[in-house]
Amino acid sequence: MLFNLTEEHLMIQKAARDFANDVLKPGVIERDEHQKFPTEEIKQMGELGFLGMMVDPKYGGGGMDCISYVLAMEEISKVDASCSVVMSVNNSLVCWGIETFGTEEQKQKYLPRLATGQIIGAFCLSEPEAGSDATSQKTTAVDMGDHYILNGTKNWITNGSTASVYLVIAQTHPEKGHKGINALIVEKGMPGFVVGPKENKLGIRGSDTHSLMFDNVKVPKENRIGEDGFGFKFAMQTLTGGRIGIASQALGIASGAYELALAYSKERKAFGKAINQHQAIQFKLADMATQIEAARLLCLKAAWLKDKHLDYGTASAMAKVFASKVAMDNTIEAVQVHGGYGFVKEYHVERLMRDAKITQIYEGTTEVQKIVISRALLQ
Ligand code: CAA
Repeated sequence: MLFNLTEEHLMIQKAARDFANDVLKPGVIERDEHQKFPTEEIKQMGELGFLGMMVDPKYGGGGMDCISYVLAMEEISKVDASCSVVMSVNNSLVCWGIETFGTEEQKQKYLPRLATGQIIGAFCLSEPEAGSDATSQKTTAVDMGDHYILNGTKNWITNGSTASVYLVIAQTHPEKGHKGINALIVEKGMPGFVVGPKENKLGIRGSDTHSLMFDNVKVPKENRIGEDGFGFKFAMQTLTGGRIGIASQALGIASGAYELALAYSKERKAFGKAINQHQAIQFKLADMATQIEAARLLCLKAAWLKDKHLDYGTASAMAKVFASKVAMDNTIEAVQVHGGYGFVKEYHVERLMRDAKITQIYEGTTEVQKIVISRALLQ
């Protein structure tokens, strides 16, 4: 068993770290405060290859492994989780979904632009009454021969207004339950497709979350991904990889908060010495570093299994459930280490604490991950 990263991994990690500190950090507080989508920053991330890291170079991607993706996700998330959610959805859900299950025409049509950030994608599964219970899709895609007619509403869609390509999960054969669901590629501008108002969120406020309405949208048959009825399995398999991305986002939020707390503890003095000379703070830092290392190992293990084409379903759920708890716990501790300064925006940790919460909710709540894990244990 080897724990070493390769030279290439270290280069990617450094490139992501430098980009996050040089480009993302200067405007991150303002973007959060004004809910400003990071348009220019995402464009640069696309040019640098962060939006299609694992896509085959023949479709314009970086051809990298999932370990590289975890490393880059952690570094970007340390500084700006609003940017890293765009990165995660585009890489693991949209690009991976199309590359793994799409037709050659779909790959050639969409991947080169998605992988380079010329356009970004969205993944549309959640509905007003179908979040964790993903089989209960009310959105319908009625088969009209050479096209589908799509009707319904999707909720909480990341990249809702900024995406150009939307992977929409909808029910075609209600009598078949989850086996009647399809995944369709919907393009912005298709008549009848309306983007609803932007959500005003607790965290990841720079990211762009909307509901979407489909009113008799005509979607060509060639935009279906996979065989008729494959949509639910498409969603589940895609989300299984997506959970590695969100686990890595949670890891980055936790380690970003820890690094800030560590640095602050060296500068801040109390009772005549730096606060890191007090055991109360030392124990907090020791706990944080230990939990973060465990979360990192779970993320890398899930990525390693994926790279080796082994079953990574349980590992990705474990990584997500653990890393998202570590993100929540450690950002709260980082605020505590900062004392009153932790409660003001300039010190970044209050934002990381707000951003952490969503990692326990999206791409499957903590409870959904525990369903996935316990089913694997009990089978
Ligand atoms: N891979 C392949 N197939 C899978 C699978 C997987 N990971 N998980 C389930 N399936 C298959 C099952 O084998 C089964 O197929 P058969 O009937 O042929 O055997 C079928 O799918 C149905 O599976 P279940 O009976 O297990 O389904 P369930 O209704 O009990 O649900 C669940 C299980 C784990 C709770 C699932 O519904 C789930 O993951 N829900 C959460 C959905 C989710 O993550 N939503 C987040 C929205 S996306 C998002 O947040 C993106 C963003 O914008 C950031």
